[in-house]
Amino acid sequence: MIEDALSHQLMTAAREAASRAYAPYSRFPVGAALITDDGAIVTGCNVENASIGLTSCAERTAVCSAVAAGHRVIRAIAVSAPRVPSVTPCGACRQVLNEFKPADEDMIVLLEGENGPRAIPLAELLPQAFGPRDLD
Ligand code: THU
Repeated sequence: MIEDALSHQLMTAAREAASRAYAPYSRFPVGAALITDDGAIVTGCNVENASIGLTSCAERTAVCSAVAAGHRVIRAIAVSAPRVPSVTPCGACRQVLNEFKPADEDMIVLLEGENGPRAIPLAELLPQAFGPRDLD
């Protein structure tokens, strides 16, 4: 699981990241903050595009930044959408997150809850997932 102080830290970073969203079309800012297995915290926001279809969600922006910085294992990710606090990651992001979960435990997804961040195992959001180990 994930310690309380860390989940609050990640959620604060996700809220800050949402303030940097580029969302002129939907006006729906989202921020994400993840922690890697070696303790690095990496943030992302949604980045929209005039073509609409090329939009990158906050979660995938954070994952791509983390991977580009050399990380391969994500322990937990917090997601914050100020306009709809109960938001959960879209299906595409769930699949992308699944790619980088730890080998021996689940990734934790932190969502805004009434009494602070609420932790949900990724397997609950994406049951019976297809992943990299299926190709071994
Ligand atoms: N969005 C995210 O960034 N993450 C989610 O989990 C849900 C949706 C973005 C995509 C688009 O820029 C806007 O929210 C509206 O769908």
